[in-house]
Amino acid sequence: MTPMIIARQGRVDEALDADRIRAALGAAGSRFNIIVRERCISTNSELRSLAEAGAAHGSVLVCEEQSGGRGRRGRPWRSVRGGSLTFSLLWRFPEVAAAPVGLSLAIGVAIARALGDLGVPGLRLKWPNDVLRSGRKLAGILVELASGARAAPFAVIGVGMNLALPRDFDPTGALDATDIAAALARPPSRNRLLADLLKNLGADLDRFSSEGFAAFRSDWLARAAWMGERVRLSSEFAEPFEGRLVGIDPDGAALVLGDDGLRRIASGELSLRKLL
Ligand code: BTN
Repeated sequence: MTPMIIARQGRVDEALDADRIRAALGAAGSRFNIIVRERCISTNSELRSLAEAGAAHGSVLVCEEQSGGRGRRGRPWRSVRGGSLTFSLLWRFPEVAAAPVGLSLAIGVAIARALGDLGVPGLRLKWPNDVLRSGRKLAGILVELASGARAAPFAVIGVGMNLALPRDFDPTGALDATDIAAALARPPSRNRLLADLLKNLGADLDRFSSEGFAAFRSDWLARAAWMGERVRLSSEFAEPFEGRLVGIDPDGAALVLGDDGLRRIASGELSLRKLL
């Protein structure tokens, strides 16, 4: 029998289990190599090492506990045993593929669709790829790309999702957090949730490979948070500036209208914060 894990408010969930995840994947199971670990430092870091050692396309590393989870822009990502889902997916791209610009936005769309299909209402995507509900962060995505002179490029796609957090727990400290337990009376098990996310990710990554971000742009815009509002853009590479978020380019870059005109912000370089 699969052991159980107790999360917030006595909610009980099955422990993560590779066989259950495979069973829930059904026909899509053959596309993924599921690795479940009790503990790891960061699923992204550890899957990247496995990728460099030759791990297969479609490998997935999911851990019950992550001691050094990483968020975007060097922030930590904290998770709760039994109350969070932390996993990374390895996706190898054909050698000839162009740099996968817009990939992280497409992944946001895949995750929002999977959660919407499970009945989670009111999801929004904050550029480049935070998943929000009621203005609070439900999931974070960390896409790390690697390419060598001879090796085909690959992406390690890390997802941290809040299922049932203790009150006042904030995974990054950057945005107030929310969880799936706040949205669904009967949340799915993490095994089932992971399988649903992977099915969507697999199908949408195939689509991204053949059609690029253009195939996701209207879906992303339909869920865009803060569109038309004044925002502040900050980055490690440039001075922060303020303007109005007016759109995204066909490749996923954000378009921000500031006092000095329209600026195009390449996906993944900047973060976006709403002004108070
Ligand atoms: C963010 O919103 O800043 C991105 C958060 C990404 C967190 C996930 S948890 C699984 C994977 N492993 C990591 O170390 N980070 C990502």
